[in-house]
Amino acid sequence: MSNSERNITILGIETSCDETAAAIVTRMPDGSSDICSNIVLSQLEDHAPYGGVVPEIAARAHISNLDAIIARAIKAAGVSWDELDGIAATAGPGLIGGLLVGTMTARAIAHARNLPYIAINHLEGHALTPRLTSNIEFPYLTLLVSGGHTQLLIVTGVGKYHRLGTTIDDALGEAFDKIAKLLGLAYPGGPSVEKAALAGDAKAFDFPRPLKGRKDCHFSFSGLKTAVRYAARDISPLNDQIIADICASFQAAVCDCLCDRTRRAMAEFNLRFPNVTPPRLIVTGGVSANLAIREALSTLAQDQGVELYAPPLNLCGDNAAMIAWAGAERMAENIGDGHDITVHARWPLDPTAEPASGAGVKA
Ligand code: KG4
Ligand code: ZN
Repeated sequence: MSNSERNITILGIETSCDETAAAIVTRMPDGSSDICSNIVLSQLEDHAPYGGVVPEIAARAHISNLDAIIARAIKAAGVSWDELDGIAATAGPGLIGGLLVGTMTARAIAHARNLPYIAINHLEGHALTPRLTSNIEFPYLTLLVSGGHTQLLIVTGVGKYHRLGTTIDDALGEAFDKIAKLLGLAYPGGPSVEKAALAGDAKAFDFPRPLKGRKDCHFSFSGLKTAVRYAARDISPLNDQIIADICASFQAAVCDCLCDRTRRAMAEFNLRFPNVTPPRLIVTGGVSANLAIREALSTLAQDQGVELYAPPLNLCGDNAAMIAWAGAERMAENIGDGHDITVHARWPLDPTAEPASGAGVKA
C-alpha cells in the first residue's frame, strides 16, 4: 500500500520561537485529518520582562520542557509509540538554539524508533493549516501574517509555493508588537493592541496606508509604525482613550493595507487559475487571530466572490499540529527529506522569488 493510501500518524515538534509544542496528527487517505493531541507551552512569562523574545532564554526553556511536552502529547492522544509513522520537527526559519533542540530531539526519537524524520519549514506549517482544518484543495492564495513574516503566496501543492508579495521592512506581527511596546501595552503586543482598539475610534487618527494602490503585491509597515510613534509622542500625557483611538486607527490602516494588497494578489491568482471557482483565499499565522483583520478580509472576500478560510484561533499562532500535518502531507506524497540534518535561520518557501524592491531585512 502506498503512503497516500493508508493512515499516517505523525508526532510533530515546534520550537522555532517562544512556544514549546508537540502534537499527534493522523492523515487519512481521503486527505481528512484527526488532531489526536495538540500541546502548546507558551514561554510568555519568561520573556515578558524583556518585552520580546530572548533567544538564549527560549532555547533553555525548550530544553527544560520539550521532553515533558512530548510525553503529554503522546498520553493525550492515547497512541503508543508503535503507532507512529514518523517524526516531524520545525527546522527553520527561526531561532537557531530552539531549532536545534527540536530537531535533535526529533532525530533522536526517529533513530531510536527506526522511524523517518521529516524536516519542516515553519511557514509551510502555517500555509498548509487550512488543509488540516478544512481539507481544502490546491491551488489557493495564502496571506501569511506572523511575527516574522508577511507574505502573499500561491500554493499549488505540498512544497510548491509561488511568492507574490512580501514585506519590504517590518513583518506585521512585529509592527503590532512594537506599537504595543511604545504605547506601554502588555507583551505580546498583537492581542493587547486588538483589545485596546475595541474601545477606540478608528477614525481618530489618519495614519498612512503604505504601498496602497501599488501595482505589485508587497507590504510595508515601518512608515505606519513611525506615524504611530510620532502621534503618541506629540500627545502627552497619553490616556487610555487616546491609546484606544491610536490602536483602532492603526488597525484600520493595517486592514486597509492588507485588503488592498490581497485584492491585487487575488487578481493575479485569478489570471493564473481562471477555472478555480470560487477562488480560495486563506489567512494564516499568528496575526490572523485578529478579529478586525478577519472581518475586513471576510468583507473583501464577499465583495470579490472569493471563499475565505481562516483557521480556528488556537491554530493561528505557533503550534505543533501544523508541523505534524505538514509532515503527514509530505509523507503521503513521499517528499519528506529524512536526511536533512541542518537547521535554517532563514528559509524562504519560494527560493526563486526576487527580493522586493527597497527590501531591508525581510526578503
Ligand atoms: O505565527 P506566530 O505565533 O509566530 C511566528 O511565526 O512569528 O505569530 C506571532 C505574532 C506576534 O507578533 C503576535 O503579536 C501576533 O502574532 N499576534 C497578533 C494577535 N495574536 C498574535 N497580532 C494581532 N492581533 C492578534 N490578536
Ligand atoms: Zn508562526
